[in-house]
Amino acid sequence: MKRAIYPGSFDPVTFGHLDIIKRSSRLFDEIVVGVLNNSSKNALFSIDERVNMIKELTKDMPNVKVDSFEGLLVDYAKQIDATVVIRGLRAVTDFEYELQIAQVNHVELPELETIFLTTSLNYSYLSSTVVREFASYGGDISRFVPAEIVPLVEEKYKVK
Ligand code: PNS
Repeated sequence: MKRAIYPGSFDPVTFGHLDIIKRSSRLFDEIVVGVLNNSSKNALFSIDERVNMIKELTKDMPNVKVDSFEGLLVDYAKQIDATVVIRGLRAVTDFEYELQIAQVNHVELPELETIFLTTSLNYSYLSSTVVREFASYGGDISRFVPAEIVPLVEEKYKVK
């Protein structure tokens, strides 16, 4: 049983994330989408909101589980018995940061391998930050996130 973890902040989940989840679910027996519960980061969505959004969007993918974690990724990977970390690489600008995290995780837990999937070309510009920025100025985010997520993001900026 090969279990991989796809960690991230997912604030909010985008089409780019969903593309990586779908593609990696074909490569491993089980994918655990690990949503980082980082209390020091001022997130737009609560941890429960982020987990529930991804659960809803992946409900038809039987080998995809969604969970939250706190603290170090290596500790969480050990706890759930995951041997692979999945990360998406959009452009060379992601590379330095991703390489550093992958290497530090590998030093801490040598059995944990990080595998990078190159983001599909049509999502290579996309990030949760872009979604939040666009939505904060009233921009149309329907090309960035699934239809169910659009009103949830827009609602956040209405009450802010
Ligand atoms: O979607 P993001 O915010 O780019 O995801 C970053 C994430 C969650 C993968 C990374 O910040 C992480 O693993 N954080 C947990 C703490 C940790 O283990 N950090 C790596 C060693 S410094």
